[in-house]
Amino acid sequence: MNTEEPEIRKGLNGVVVDTTKVSKVNPETNSLLYRGYPVQELAEKCSFEEVAYLLWHGELPTDEQNEEFCKAERSQRALEPNVKKLIDLLPTSSHPMDVCRTAASAMGASHPKAEDSSREANLAKSISLFAAFPAVVAYDQRRRRGQDVVEPREDLDYSANFLYMTFGEEQPPAVVDAFKVSMVLYAEHSFNASTFTGRVITSTLADLHSAVTGAIGALKGPLHGGANEAVMDTFEEIGIRKEESKEDAAARAKSWMEDALAQKKKVMGFGHRVYKHGDSRVPTMKAALDAMVKHYERDEILGLYDGLQAAMQEAKDIQPNLDYPTGPAFHLMGFDTPTFTPLFVASRITGWTAHIMEQAEDNALIRPLSAYSGPDERHVGK
Ligand code: COA
Repeated sequence: MNTEEPEIRKGLNGVVVDTTKVSKVNPETNSLLYRGYPVQELAEKCSFEEVAYLLWHGELPTDEQNEEFCKAERSQRALEPNVKKLIDLLPTSSHPMDVCRTAASAMGASHPKAEDSSREANLAKSISLFAAFPAVVAYDQRRRRGQDVVEPREDLDYSANFLYMTFGEEQPPAVVDAFKVSMVLYAEHSFNASTFTGRVITSTLADLHSAVTGAIGALKGPLHGGANEAVMDTFEEIGIRKEESKEDAAARAKSWMEDALAQKKKVMGFGHRVYKHGDSRVPTMKAALDAMVKHYERDEILGLYDGLQAAMQEAKDIQPNLDYPTGPAFHLMGFDTPTFTPLFVASRITGWTAHIMEQAEDNALIRPLSAYSGPDERHVGK
């Protein structure tokens, strides 16, 4: 009989469950590679469409492939009438992530190849989810503001069109570029909780939309994607005062953080399960946030940002994660706070579906074991 206690790694912390060719996170060197390319380089030099293509195909597209891919993406951007009807049935008091989850599920239910999980069908499903999700996110924010759908424009790229459909007018190049950077940085991050959820669902041979729907559920939590919203809630709690100097805002933020840490609170936007010396994506997103602060002339936002970060560094030496600069950047662009995680969904659909296809192509059912800790065998006393 084996009397040894099994080793349990709570939260699968440090457990390597499979190999992947999609991305490599190296916490020692603070680096993140998508299919071998540093994410910073992709954010600087590539469109989000090229990055999506790279994640799915393993290589950046040639000009011709890119043209063909963009044509397919642009032709599938409109909100399906059935999906719009379904969204309209959901109360505006519901969280936008619930709307995303419902929309992904509905798109699967009405997909002509719903039960086909071949590589070809999965790729086609991934492109249509990628193309159509901005319309879901944009429309959901608009309907909450009492506004109607804005139809997509085929003459704009993914990022410019996303902002156009959300705000009803074209945004300046600086804003489009910062938004694109956020999309590229959010696209993929190896076996995080939502991606792993998607892989678990795929491992049962369930269809791609089921896996994406489950992944959206996992991303909703504040320990994962929901952190970008929680960062903004913190800024709001401290108080955003438009005319305040950067220094005064930083001082207020610093004392808020000191109080929060004295009360042993977890402050969202800081810390990471994998990176312990800083998140590789933060410097690139911080530069995009700086560009937004400059564009909108909102120095006080930077004051709050710096104040919180400095106090956290001093007290606990914990570094910000990607959600920390992204939250205030989305706020400055004009998104409502509950829309932040849906923006993450629109981006991460690319990484999720790349993993779903990888899992499907070399599948093993994911089914771990547990150590029983309940009562010993007993019997019903009647
Ligand atoms: N605020 C305050 N303290 C934090 C913290 C935070 N954001 N993140 C970690 N810590 C502290 C923990 O309280 C713990 O302290 P202790 O040893 O005194 O108990 C220590 O740092 C280690 O943290 P731990 O929770 O074990 O790390 P983890 O790897 O399990 O958790 C996160 C990683 C991401 C879940 C965690 O850092 C967190 O909750 N961050 C906030 C949520 C967030 O921003 N999520 C987005 C991730 S991209």
